[in-house]
Amino acid sequence: MTDEIDVTDCTRCPALCDSRSRIVNGVGPTDASLLFVGEAPGRQEDETGEPFVGRSGDVLDEALRDRGLARRDVRITNCVRCRPPDNRDPRAEELANCRPYLDHEIDAIDPEVIVALGKVPSEHLLGRSVAVTAEAGSLHDVSIAGTPRRTLVCVHPAATLYDPGQRETFTAALDAAVEFVDGGDQ
Ligand code: URA
Repeated sequence: MTDEIDVTDCTRCPALCDSRSRIVNGVGPTDASLLFVGEAPGRQEDETGEPFVGRSGDVLDEALRDRGLARRDVRITNCVRCRPPDNRDPRAEELANCRPYLDHEIDAIDPEVIVALGKVPSEHLLGRSVAVTAEAGSLHDVSIAGTPRRTLVCVHPAATLYDPGQRETFTAALDAAVEFVDGGDQ
């Protein structure tokens, strides 16, 4: 592992090497207070090389705007950096293979709060099963690569597209993250 946050080449996951067009690294300032962690790139992210640029990204951007934030104010990344075939969930070994890159990025950014977007990132970071809707907005001290990190469970933005009832749960969790950062309540 180099000091670089961006991964320029990786062949750890044979299936993902076949399915990806490119590696999708995190974007945003390297001193961001808020770090959003999604699951994996989808089709548009794979095409553009940027996380959360599809419909989920629109939901996230709008929610940030509503809170006086722009996309360029926050850091956005994923648990795995390559698009899985047919957008299936990343497999346990793929999450494990990509984990050192995520840990390195978290270490370099040193965010005040990590927002886990959806079930896969929440379970990956908390290391246990998570009932996302029930636990959305909850903050946890999680040891990541030996450092305690404040991690907030949040509904995935895509869930609000399939189930508009999830919208309030999503925005309330974002409010909790922003309040935590603004309040500096550490
Ligand atoms: N969903 C994710 O979890 N990550 C992306 O980058 C896009 C959609």
